[in-house]
Amino acid sequence: MTDSNKIFVSNIKKIAVLTSGGDSPGMNAGIRAIVRTAIYNRLKVFGIKRGYCGLINDEIIEMQSHTVSKIISDGGTILKSSRCPEFKEPEGRKKAFDNLRKHEIDALVVLGGNGSFKGADLLRKEFNMTVIGIPCTIDNDIYGTDFTIGFDTAINTAVTAVDKIRDTADSHNILFFVEVMGRHSGFIAINTGISTGAEATLLPEVKTNIKELCNYLEIERRKNKTSGIIIVAEGDDEGDASEIARKVKDRLPDYETRVTTLGHVQRGGSPTSNDRVLASILGFEAVRALLKGKEGVMIGQINKEIAFTPLVETYTKHDKINRNWIEISKIISI
Ligand code: F6P
Repeated sequence: MTDSNKIFVSNIKKIAVLTSGGDSPGMNAGIRAIVRTAIYNRLKVFGIKRGYCGLINDEIIEMQSHTVSKIISDGGTILKSSRCPEFKEPEGRKKAFDNLRKHEIDALVVLGGNGSFKGADLLRKEFNMTVIGIPCTIDNDIYGTDFTIGFDTAINTAVTAVDKIRDTADSHNILFFVEVMGRHSGFIAINTGISTGAEATLLPEVKTNIKELCNYLEIERRKNKTSGIIIVAEGDDEGDASEIARKVKDRLPDYETRVTTLGHVQRGGSPTSNDRVLASILGFEAVRALLKGKEGVMIGQINKEIAFTPLVETYTKHDKINRNWIEISKIISI
């Protein structure tokens, strides 16, 4: 091992890490990389339990290299996570900052999504806290990175499930509506739809027209297709998969339909290699960036290069799906 990755530019001596919001596979790989890179650079490193709630309640523990042994392949987060309403209030953030000061923590690394980064940015603006964000969500909807940690695992989980559904759909000539996660974003849906050859994919970004969908299904049936898969993102404007299935059945009563909601199964499981690598690189680079005096940013990867995005942009801008993909997915499922 060379010492070329050791950096001693800033005054940072102690850093802390927390995971916040919906957990995503790969968070543990990120925690591991942060802890080990910090120790390698002779920093003390602390883990904060249960996200911002644990910070407010002073659930802070020192971490060692062995604390993160054998976690790289585990889903979830060893630090636990939370969505923390108290942190949205100024009093909550004051308590959080007081605990950071009590432990003499110089910088905070936040693994989470855009809501978590908004919270981190408030700590920075209100208390001059040094913070850096790492994008973790299965939804892949964060501005400033090509991929978020957890997305690759989630879509592979969804694709495996839909492939299995296709087997039984095909055996019984059934039209399946499969709901995938993504309240505000169709990344999981469009990737799953294309990967599984779905007959249609309904996304929050595109208005759903039930009449058009039914006309399309009738054309498909005339081609003697023996099954159908409709991927429904949970945030679709016509409702959830059950509601959409009911609306379709009202117009096409002779169709046999079934509904499967994949739900939180998409958030769990051992991370894919892509997610482990992304989390490891971003964790390492986050500590390196802090030591070089960078802060107030989210660290991401764009075109395979490390990219820094001001935290404010991560919660005021949104990453958008490629609308061409919607057309492509329709054309190749005819
Ligand atoms: O973390 C993102 C996400 O999984 C979304 O896809 C989903 O809409 C939401 O979280 C579900 O959140 P909760 O587990 O709080 O119901």
